[in-house]
Amino acid sequence: MENGERERRAELLAQASTAAAACRKCPIGYERRNNVYGEGDPCARLMVVGEGPGETEDQLGRPFVGRAGQLLDRMLAAIELAREEVYICNTVKCRPTLAGPYGARNRAPDAQEMENCRPFLDQQIAIIAPQVILALGSPAAKSFLGRDFQITRMRGRWYAGPRDTPLMVTFHPAYVLRQTGGEIEGVKRMVWADLKAVRAKLDAPPEVPHVQAVEIRQASLFEAR
Ligand code: URA
Repeated sequence: MENGERERRAELLAQASTAAAACRKCPIGYERRNNVYGEGDPCARLMVVGEGPGETEDQLGRPFVGRAGQLLDRMLAAIELAREEVYICNTVKCRPTLAGPYGARNRAPDAQEMENCRPFLDQQIAIIAPQVILALGSPAAKSFLGRDFQITRMRGRWYAGPRDTPLMVTFHPAYVLRQTGGEIEGVKRMVWADLKAVRAKLDAPPEVPHVQAVEIRQASLFEAR
């Protein structure tokens, strides 16, 4: 990708990020410290979409920089992708919280918050035009594929995401980190299979669009004008 195009997209993302930071559609917009818009290569072939910023992300204004983010970096490295080569963002840009006895705790974004934030995510997808989207965890999958999506049964297959972008769903790295004992190996195997499918899709030659049958009338070639 030529540098001019990368700079043009970076500028569009910067403008969109400023608009997202001004948004106060949800109560969490007033509670968060930073708007965690997203980061990475504006020309990335892979876009990773998580659920929402956690405490560390809210503090630093960057997605996936806590423990789950460190595992995400290792997951990407396993398919030979550096964090800087992909674009990383979330379904919502503000940290969803739950009041607890020891202060605010992270929670998954609700359907309304994801719907309110969707125009910002759609803009990111339109600007970056990734070749593949990887949704991490059930909330991100549901935001693309509807509330009936069941991650344990339906992950690991290709779906048509926004703009017909091939979409893969896998388990969220935070979920992987929560696994203990006998569960962990099975979950890691499934994540690895999903990541390999992403790698294969990125390596495959671009799909040629299917052309409907076209009737060619021989006679028309010789018709007098
Ligand atoms: N979990 C997410 O879904 N997103 C982040 O940015 C961090 C943790």
